[in-house]
Amino acid sequence: MSKILVKSLANQKEATQKVENPVRIVDDGKVTPRLLGFGKDKLFYIRTYGCQANIRDEEIMAGYLNRIGMKRTINAEEADLAIINTCAVRENAEAKIYGEIGSFKANYERNKNFMLVIAGCVMEENGVAQELMATYSWISLIIGTHDVPNLLPLLDECLKSKKNIINVRSFAGEVVENMPSMRISPYKAYVNISYGCDKFCTYCIVPYTRGRERSRKMEDILKECQELVNDGYKEITLLGQNVNSYGLDFKDGTTFAHLLEAVAKTGIPQLKFLTSYPSQFSDEMIEIMAKYPNIVHWLHFPVQSGSTNVLSKMGRRYSREEYVEIARKIKAKMPDIGLTTDIIVGFPKETEEDFLDTLSLCKEIEYSAAFTFIYSPRSGTPAARMEQVPEEIQHERFDRLKAVIEDSTAKHSASMVGKIYDILVDGPSKKDENILSGYATNGKLVNFPGPKYLTGCIVKVKMVESHVYYIKGELAEDPIIAKARDVAYLISLDPVVKEYQRLDETLRNSDEIKALGDKLVLAKKNMVLSKGSENYPSAKKDYEDVLNEIKNHPLLNNRDNLSSEVEDLLITIRNILK
Ligand code: 5AD
Ligand code: SF4
Repeated sequence: MSKILVKSLANQKEATQKVENPVRIVDDGKVTPRLLGFGKDKLFYIRTYGCQANIRDEEIMAGYLNRIGMKRTINAEEADLAIINTCAVRENAEAKIYGEIGSFKANYERNKNFMLVIAGCVMEENGVAQELMATYSWISLIIGTHDVPNLLPLLDECLKSKKNIINVRSFAGEVVENMPSMRISPYKAYVNISYGCDKFCTYCIVPYTRGRERSRKMEDILKECQELVNDGYKEITLLGQNVNSYGLDFKDGTTFAHLLEAVAKTGIPQLKFLTSYPSQFSDEMIEIMAKYPNIVHWLHFPVQSGSTNVLSKMGRRYSREEYVEIARKIKAKMPDIGLTTDIIVGFPKETEEDFLDTLSLCKEIEYSAAFTFIYSPRSGTPAARMEQVPEEIQHERFDRLKAVIEDSTAKHSASMVGKIYDILVDGPSKKDENILSGYATNGKLVNFPGPKYLTGCIVKVKMVESHVYYIKGELAEDPIIAKARDVAYLISLDPVVKEYQRLDETLRNSDEIKALGDKLVLAKKNMVLSKGSENYPSAKKDYEDVLNEIKNHPLLNNRDNLSSEVEDLLITIRNILK
């Protein structure tokens, strides 16, 4: 009897079928006793390749494993369960997987209950899962991108049936809410706003691996963002393959600009989004970005090529001129913006002239950084069937492009010197623990000397020395003051403090309370003026009556109670800081 159970296999053709209304599912949080027994005191390890969507999938899979009692390890050798989360966008990421799978044979030989799960985009490619399962007997489960929410039921099925399962569903896709997650950073969070992509750029595998474009409901996104704010997160990055088409599937006038504005209003200190599709970047978006100070002035704006000819073969829905015009509008409204981009060189049929157009575009836009890729054919995509550019020409163009990009990156870095930027501190650098690193609000990497207790704080840093890929800075404020501001911000998020502030605000604006205050002033005045006269006892009683009325007023009482709770909280914090 075969040890392999094939439940479903990748089918790139099926993945392209659109559905009008995607199925919406709410995770019920249930787990079987068998899984709880398996997970108890066990360790998992996850290795993720590729983009932010994959990183977010890792956080969610970690959340599921945590639900059955497992703990994360960063040491692959001690893992009882490992997940390799694959990326299909670029070839070198794909090649690395095979070596990685091989390395887990040792875990299996040490521990026959070891489970290896292969997930991610590569599994959505026709034929890959079957081949892997047949080659490596220590793989327990293969899932595609759509089955991240089904990780636990599928693991349960592996345990129950004692079979190795392939479950790769290729289809338009669902929207699942209420998924658990173990976020990688306590300060920076990714929030999915939509899944899949409908653009079908001719080089790109994503629409085949992640399905058709479908938006999460705005209320679900806002709830997740509000929770992150309440938990003290400092930065949210909204994620979608194409954020600018967010909400269009609802056909009710919802746009990404609406969502972005609503998230900005949650008060998250820094807000970013990825990835923008140039021709869908509306004027409304530019307005919203410029209006809210917590939306950072960094924009990843992938052009892919500077030649209208090539853009058309890529299926990109804009010309070079249209792209330049939108970028011009963005820069006019936000002169301090850092624009970054993705560029593919050596796309099929790209001529020297086309390539020169890309070089001239880069010089014209002056990107602050760019990710450059040599075109690599993705099986099943239209460009893979086009006439390819010889490899040596691709490499030669890649090197020339890199030199131009380095030039503009260096120029952008140099233009920042002398200015002060807000930096969200990621922590001490790997090489020197006295040097902190973080990103400026325009996306540039900054290193500066400072104490590691500033990790997770937003601090003001002056740029002093520019290098191509980073800038050396120095703290532009006392680190203790920066930390104190951070603590004050976190205190302001405490539910008791928030309740106290709300009530205080209500009372300040209440006519009834104002009248009560006026009454007290008047009664006191009468009492003082009548001192020594026969009216004094009754004036004194009037005054005491008003005092009692104030003492017994339910809202004022409530404020007093809350204020003593706030005081206790501050005393506790003071004691901790001592
Ligand atoms: N070859 C090279 N680069 C690619 N990208 C996507 N598909 C390919 C491919 N087949 C690049 C694009 C995209 C980025 C995430 O990866 O520039 O914006
Ligand atoms: Fe791929 Fe184009 Fe969609 Fe981006 S917009 S994910 S490049 S198909």
